Amino acid sequence: MLLVETLTAVGHNSGIFGFMNTQWGWPFVESLHFIGLTLLLGTVGLFDLRLMGLGRGIPIKALHPLVRFGVAGFLLNALTGFMFIISDPGQYVYNPAFQIKVLAMIIAGINLAVFYLVMAKKVRALSDDAIVPLPARLIAMTSLCCWCVVIAGGRLITFYRPPEFWCFWC
Ligand code: HEM
Repeated sequence: MLLVETLTAVGHNSGIFGFMNTQWGWPFVESLHFIGLTLLLGTVGLFDLRLMGLGRGIPIKALHPLVRFGVAGFLLNALTGFMFIISDPGQYVYNPAFQIKVLAMIIAGINLAVFYLVMAKKVRALSDDAIVPLPARLIAMTSLCCWCVVIAGGRLITFYRPPEFWCFWC
């Protein structure tokens, strides 16, 4: 319960709780959350599909600069997501749909690190219509699956509120 109390205090002391409970606060932040996910899936998702072999005529080097907009989308979602959480933490902290969403984001982060540490250099050196090496295709598939789980988890959050009786491991 300490986590919920701490997050509640942050929400009230920061004024975010007050803003989110105005008529347009929550809908505005929810809309920003959707803009963030669109930016992320519209760029990182596209890059993943190209790595998986779709759109072979599109040079990978031409798509990669778009990934920074995906990062911006994720940061926007981290901010707006945090605003949701500190405005009503008891709805999320014990919510299995939210926990699965966070787990999928952690796996997506590790997967991204593996790509940039192990595969990015090899992929950048490929010719425009080359077939991407299998490890990079598997990393791209994992990325796409993770973001789809994040979206599904986000959408399912509302169906597992409040979660005390759902969360036997809490
Ligand atoms: C650290 C990052 C994130 C946090 C903390 C977070 C948190 C949340 C929370 C708390 C909600 C529930 C909002 C509500 O109760 O109305 C939510 C909804 C949602 N989130 Fe996120 N989120 C994050 C990132 C993402 C990302 C990256 C995506 C997509 C790729 C995403 C997709 C969604 C979707 C689709 C919903 C459902 C909105 C609805 O239908 O009402 N979120 N998120």
